[in-house]
Amino acid sequence: MTRLVASNVVAGYGAVEILHGVSVQAGDGEVTCIFGPNGCGKSTLLGAVAGIVDIWGGEVELDGEPLAGKPAHAILKSGLALMPQGGGVFPQLSVRENLRVGGHTLSDGRMLDQRIGELIDEFPRLGERLSVPAGNLSGGEQMMLAIARALIVKPRFILFDEPSAGLSPKLAAEALDRVAALARRGIGVLMVEQNIREALRVADRIYVLAGGHNRYEGRPEDIADGRQLMDIYLGAAAEDER
Ligand SMILES: Nc1ncnc2c1ncn2[C@@H]1O[C@H](COP(=O)(O)OP(=O)(O)O)[C@@H](O)[C@H]1O
Ligand SMILES: [Mg+2]
Repeated sequence: MTRLVASNVVAGYGAVEILHGVSVQAGDGEVTCIFGPNGCGKSTLLGAVAGIVDIWGGEVELDGEPLAGKPAHAILKSGLALMPQGGGVFPQLSVRENLRVGGHTLSDGRMLDQRIGELIDEFPRLGERLSVPAGNLSGGEQMMLAIARALIVKPRFILFDEPSAGLSPKLAAEALDRVAALARRGIGVLMVEQNIREALRVADRIYVLAGGHNRYEGRPEDIADGRQLMDIYLGAAAEDER
């Protein structure tokens, strides 16, 4: 059982504190989804957990191993990968080169090629496009590449930042199905999403953040529909202004 626990995380940029003590927990075999208004700190939280945003306070543990304060590459080596918002693929690099960059922490080149082969079996469409610059891929293909790249190091846990962003409704559903399939395979998934309807369909556990604080925690079945979730955000936004 893999478990990610973030407790009272405080983080920000420069002198500006964005997260004022946020706590989330996520386990393997489940999709844990974080919602919240634009700018409330969702990406900052994922970045803080993954070690790309400095943590000023609080704890992050993966299976009891403390991660807070470690550099991003050490956290990746511990088995926690991040798919950043927008996918983070390099448009000028080919599909194969993007996968190689994602696997740069695999010291053994043969192992990296083997892993790329396995991912091509899983994402055959990428196999047909290996030499194509990632910038020439369709939106759906770029998202597949971003997911495949996060998987290359065989993480125990993946953070996804808006995996359905910018996709057509059909491709958005497909992207979230892929994410859910990873959880069923035993990988832990902590995901940020704006596509409330599709995300509620695949989520096992949900959090709402607002203004750098926890706002709500529950299960999708506790929420009547996307409108109620929006009400939770908006209530939070109104409170922040007070
Ligand atoms: N690299 C950065 N430098 C300074 N401020 C940032 C940076 N990234 C995000 N912010 C600010 O932090 C706040 C939270 O951003 P973010 O975590 O991206 O929100 P969300 O993902 O919930 O939309 C916003 O006010 C944003 O402008
Ligand atoms: Mg964001």
